[in-house]
Amino acid sequence: IKINYIDHTGSTFEIGASEGETLMSAATNNLIPGIDGDCGGNCACGTCHVIIDENWTSRLDSQNSEEISLLQMTPDFNERSRLACQIVITKELHGIVVNLPEHQM
Ligand code: FES
Repeated sequence: IKINYIDHTGSTFEIGASEGETLMSAATNNLIPGIDGDCGGNCACGTCHVIIDENWTSRLDSQNSEEISLLQMTPDFNERSRLACQIVITKELHGIVVNLPEHQM
Protein backbone atom coordinates (compact mmCIF):
# COMPACT_ATOMS: atom_id res chain seq x y z
CA ILE A 1 0.00 0.00 0.00
CA LYS A 2 1.61 3.19 -1.17
CA ILE A 3 1.83 6.15 1.21
CA ASN A 4 3.22 9.58 0.26
CA TYR A 5 4.58 11.84 2.98
CA ILE A 6 5.39 15.39 1.87
CA ASP A 7 7.46 17.72 4.04
CA HIS A 8 6.96 21.49 4.24
CA THR A 9 9.64 22.08 1.57
CA GLY A 10 7.75 19.87 -0.89
CA SER A 11 10.06 16.83 -0.69
CA THR A 12 8.05 13.64 -1.13
CA PHE A 13 8.83 10.36 0.60
CA GLU A 14 6.98 7.45 -1.00
CA ILE A 15 6.92 4.26 1.03
CA GLY A 16 5.22 0.88 0.93
CA ALA A 17 3.16 -0.01 4.02
CA SER A 18 1.12 -3.03 5.07
CA GLU A 19 -2.55 -3.16 5.95
CA GLY A 20 -3.00 -2.84 9.71
CA GLU A 21 -0.01 -0.57 10.29
CA THR A 22 -0.73 3.01 11.23
CA LEU A 23 0.42 6.13 9.40
CA MET A 24 2.71 6.67 12.42
CA SER A 25 4.33 3.20 12.51
CA ALA A 26 4.76 3.18 8.73
CA ALA A 27 6.54 6.55 8.99
CA THR A 28 8.83 5.61 11.89
CA ASN A 29 9.68 2.22 10.29
CA ASN A 30 10.79 4.11 7.20
CA LEU A 31 12.58 6.92 9.09
CA ILE A 32 10.34 9.65 7.72
CA PRO A 33 11.64 12.91 9.21
CA GLY A 34 9.31 14.71 11.59
CA ILE A 35 7.26 11.76 12.81
CA ASP A 36 8.61 10.68 16.19
CA GLY A 37 5.70 8.79 17.72
CA ASP A 38 7.12 9.26 21.22
CA CYS A 39 4.20 7.65 23.04
CA GLY A 40 4.20 4.55 20.85
CA GLY A 41 0.81 5.27 19.33
CA ASN A 42 -1.23 5.83 22.47
CA CYS A 43 -2.74 9.16 21.42
CA ALA A 44 -0.77 10.85 24.20
CA CYS A 45 2.20 12.78 22.82
CA GLY A 46 1.19 14.66 19.67
CA THR A 47 4.56 14.02 17.94
CA CYS A 48 2.87 12.19 15.08
CA HIS A 49 0.84 15.17 13.84
CA VAL A 50 0.17 15.07 10.10
CA ILE A 51 -2.02 17.14 7.83
CA ILE A 52 -4.06 15.03 5.44
CA ASP A 53 -4.28 16.08 1.79
CA GLU A 54 -7.71 17.56 1.09
CA ASN A 55 -8.54 14.83 -1.45
CA TRP A 56 -8.23 12.17 1.24
CA THR A 57 -9.84 13.60 4.36
CA SER A 58 -13.31 12.29 3.53
CA ARG A 59 -12.01 8.72 3.32
CA LEU A 60 -10.93 8.68 6.97
CA ASP A 61 -13.00 8.15 10.10
CA SER A 62 -13.40 11.31 12.13
CA GLN A 63 -11.26 12.06 15.18
CA ASN A 64 -12.36 11.33 18.72
CA SER A 65 -12.29 14.10 21.33
CA GLU A 66 -9.00 12.90 22.83
CA GLU A 67 -7.28 13.21 19.45
CA ILE A 68 -8.77 16.65 18.80
CA SER A 69 -7.65 18.08 22.15
CA LEU A 70 -4.09 16.86 21.63
CA LEU A 71 -4.01 18.21 18.08
CA GLN A 72 -5.20 21.64 19.23
CA MET A 73 -1.97 21.96 21.24
CA THR A 74 0.25 21.50 18.16
CA PRO A 75 1.55 24.63 16.39
CA ASP A 76 0.41 23.75 12.86
CA PHE A 77 -3.10 22.61 13.78
CA ASN A 78 -5.75 23.01 11.10
CA GLU A 79 -9.00 21.30 10.12
CA ARG A 80 -7.15 18.55 8.23
CA SER A 81 -4.82 17.75 11.14
CA ARG A 82 -4.68 14.16 12.40
CA LEU A 83 -2.56 12.05 14.71
CA ALA A 84 -0.89 9.55 12.40
CA CYS A 85 -1.02 6.86 15.11
CA GLN A 86 -4.80 6.93 15.04
CA ILE A 87 -5.09 6.14 11.33
CA VAL A 88 -4.93 2.47 10.47
CA ILE A 89 -3.81 1.77 6.93
CA THR A 90 -6.29 -0.10 4.74
CA LYS A 91 -6.24 -0.93 1.04
CA GLU A 92 -8.60 1.99 0.46
CA LEU A 93 -5.80 4.36 1.51
CA HIS A 94 -3.44 3.21 -1.28
CA GLY A 95 -1.81 6.38 -2.64
CA ILE A 96 -2.79 8.63 0.27
CA VAL A 97 -0.96 11.95 0.51
CA VAL A 98 0.00 13.17 3.98
CA ASN A 99 1.73 16.49 4.74
CA LEU A 100 4.28 16.86 7.52
CA PRO A 101 3.90 19.99 9.66
CA GLU A 102 6.75 22.49 9.50
CA HIS A 103 7.19 22.86 13.28
CA GLN A 104 7.57 19.14 13.88
CA MET A 105 10.77 18.79 11.85
FE1 FES B 1 1.93 9.76 20.35
FE2 FES B 1 0.57 9.52 18.08
S1 FES B 1 2.40 8.58 18.60
S2 FES B 1 0.08 10.70 19.80
